[in-house]
Amino acid sequence: MAGRTKQGHDGSSHSPVVQLWTPAAPAKGTRPVTRAEVVLHNTKDDCWVIIRGKVYDITAWAPHHPGGAGIARMYAGKEATAEFGDYHSAEAVAHMAHFCIGELVEAPAALP
Ligand code: HEM
Repeated sequence: MAGRTKQGHDGSSHSPVVQLWTPAAPAKGTRPVTRAEVVLHNTKDDCWVIIRGKVYDITAWAPHHPGGAGIARMYAGKEATAEFGDYHSAEAVAHMAHFCIGELVEAPAALP
């Protein structure tokens, strides 16, 4: 994105200078999650978001997010696909895996 520099002092743009923060234990990314569950995690201190059909716990990531910690407050418990799509590099997309709880699924039909 224009105006954002990731180059080293030699002007090289091959690798980012900034090392992205990584959690000690990455999320597994295998647990199906319903929308009803996502909305319960709707504060900056307990923040799940939906991006492209998957659910991410970004509580610990938010303070380290290059785009600012405000995303946790703004999108907690919500769909953030459109906004995410506007801003992110391939590197950012790859980094999401650390925070992925699992796929967003519809709630099962109520039992009779
Ligand atoms: C797991 C989720 C997320 C990850 C891993 C992530 C990662 C990153 C990274 C690495 C950057 C630096 C620029 C780049 O490499 O693209 C960035 C910037 C940014 N992100 Fe995120 N992000 C996440 C979620 C979000 C969400 C939900 C929003 C909501 C709007 C958001 C908005 C932004 C904005 C506005 C920037 C600044 C762009 C700029 O200044 O050039 N991010 N993010």
